[in-house]
Amino acid sequence: MEALVALARVDMAAVDALIIDRMQSPVPVIPLLAEHIIAAGGKRLRPLLTIAAARAATAAFADVDLANPVKLAASVEFIHTATLLHDDVVDGSERRRGKVAAHLIWGSATSVLVGDFLFARAFELMVETGQLRALGILAQASSVIAQGEVLQLTRAHDLNLDQETYLRIISAKTAELFAAAAEAGAVGIGADEKTTSAVRSFGLNLGLAFQLADDALDYGGSSEALGKNTGDDFRERKLTLPVIKAVQRATPAERAFWQRVIEKGDQRDGDLEEAIAILARHGAVEAARAESLRWAGQAKRALDNLPVHPLRAMLFELVDFVIDRVL
Ligand code: IPE
Ligand code: IPE
Ligand code: MG
Ligand code: MG
Repeated sequence: MEALVALARVDMAAVDALIIDRMQSPVPVIPLLAEHIIAAGGKRLRPLLTIAAARAATAAFADVDLANPVKLAASVEFIHTATLLHDDVVDGSERRRGKVAAHLIWGSATSVLVGDFLFARAFELMVETGQLRALGILAQASSVIAQGEVLQLTRAHDLNLDQETYLRIISAKTAELFAAAAEAGAVGIGADEKTTSAVRSFGLNLGLAFQLADDALDYGGSSEALGKNTGDDFRERKLTLPVIKAVQRATPAERAFWQRVIEKGDQRDGDLEEAIAILARHGAVEAARAESLRWAGQAKRALDNLPVHPLRAMLFELVDFVIDRVL
């Protein structure tokens, strides 16, 4: 991971400079709110994928013009940031990137509208590249993400949600942007079809592994390290894989517990701790982590179809960073 970040440092600095330039607006609350969430950091995983895919796709390592991939990478981070602003309103989350969530400072209406502004900025940047195919990839990813978020919302509180539907949801709301970020990077540099589809597949599988790990961390991670509150999925009565596994293995008393807290939403003090204890009894978090590892393996295998290149090994290591992450 460090090697990849070091290699991409100059490109990523260009991405960040472009993001800061394009989040400006004469309407004062827009740069204020945007700065609040963007300057808070974030891992910048998705734009890193765009840059890495563009670099991995080209043999002429040193002298490639990355102007378009840089614009596409900034677009990807704008899309991601917009979805985070919207997601925190939808999920009623209180913390993001180690800070108070924007909607608690400026209100939900402003937060949603600034999210729309960032989305629109992403599209302006994509148009500047003149690359209709890259625009198409990220436009489609945007509609797929929205569908994933809506599907998740309409299936919250539903104890019958199965693993297959859960995977459909996380594939749409998270993995699709990882896939599109990588694919757009390859397309932006004019890579051949084999390379383009290899990086897309890498991104998709990595995105699934990432969200599975993130959902496991919601029951076992540290709020401090994550920069967002753990237990949010439980409070939101959202079925993620650890709970799906535990519901499958539930005793009648445990099933009654899940019905009360998830279906009826009757949550009391100590219920989150009780949920964590039940998950532990059934090895449910470990089962979700095993599923994350399985997709991580698929991501690594997708790299076999890339040209031999120093970045290939770095992307391989990125997979382990993403699934072993604690933040
Ligand atoms: C958060 O993504 C949203 C999810 C899909 C879980 P990240 O964990 O990549 O967020 P930042 O950008 O690093 O804050
Ligand atoms: C975030 O999903 C996915 C998108 C922003 C589209 P979650 O709601 O699971 O992620 P966190 O836990 O808020 O980061
Ligand atoms: Mg959320
Ligand atoms: Mg959400």
